[in-house]
Amino acid sequence: MSVRIRWDQETHWLKAGIAGNGAFLNVNTPDGIVNPMTIGWGQVGIVWGRPVFTVYVRKSRFTYACLQVADSFTISVPRLGELADELRLCGTQSGRDLHKVAACGFTLVPGQSADTPTIGECGLHYECSILARCQLEVPDIVSHEIHRRYESKDLHQIVLGEILTAYVTEGAASDE
Ligand SMILES: Cc1cc2nc3c(=O)[nH]c(=O)nc-3n(C[C@H](O)[C@H](O)[C@H](O)COP(=O)(O)O)c2cc1C
Repeated sequence: MSVRIRWDQETHWLKAGIAGNGAFLNVNTPDGIVNPMTIGWGQVGIVWGRPVFTVYVRKSRFTYACLQVADSFTISVPRLGELADELRLCGTQSGRDLHKVAACGFTLVPGQSADTPTIGECGLHYECSILARCQLEVPDIVSHEIHRRYESKDLHQIVLGEILTAYVTEGAASDE
């Protein structure tokens, strides 16, 4: 059973995931499977008057290549403290080399509003339609401290997805 929430509910849970072991950014691959990647950066908010989930994906990621041709992504956030091993695997292995959904034994659940599935083992979900992709370039970075983080030139792309649906699924912890 899933219970719809507003985009600005359960933000404490989202923050705990993102700032803790991470959350899963799920994208359809050109080969027709789903690739989950662990993210530690991301926000919800309002952009262009719409509820938006923003993610940051380095060029080197397989997820980056998938996002260039996808029209949606989903975010699946584990219940607090759960799926630490799976988050580690999806944050260290590339979908170029490994079918991560199979390796983790995940159950994919069809999206309610987007054509990207969510991960059934998680409790908090966002389905997003991609509105814009903004490639960060070296001259864009003003801070010298941040500049040093990009010596490899593997810059992030900032991807904004309109939140079409957000919901929690059974067994989920709530902060509200
Ligand atoms: C806790 C954690 C958070 C991460 N956050 C991000 C992120 O926000 N953006 C990013 O590009 N990579 C992030 N990574 C690294 C990717 O998850 C990792 O490189 C992954 O293997 C890429 O998978 P892919 O090649 O299948 O896309 C994170 C890794 C971990 C462990």
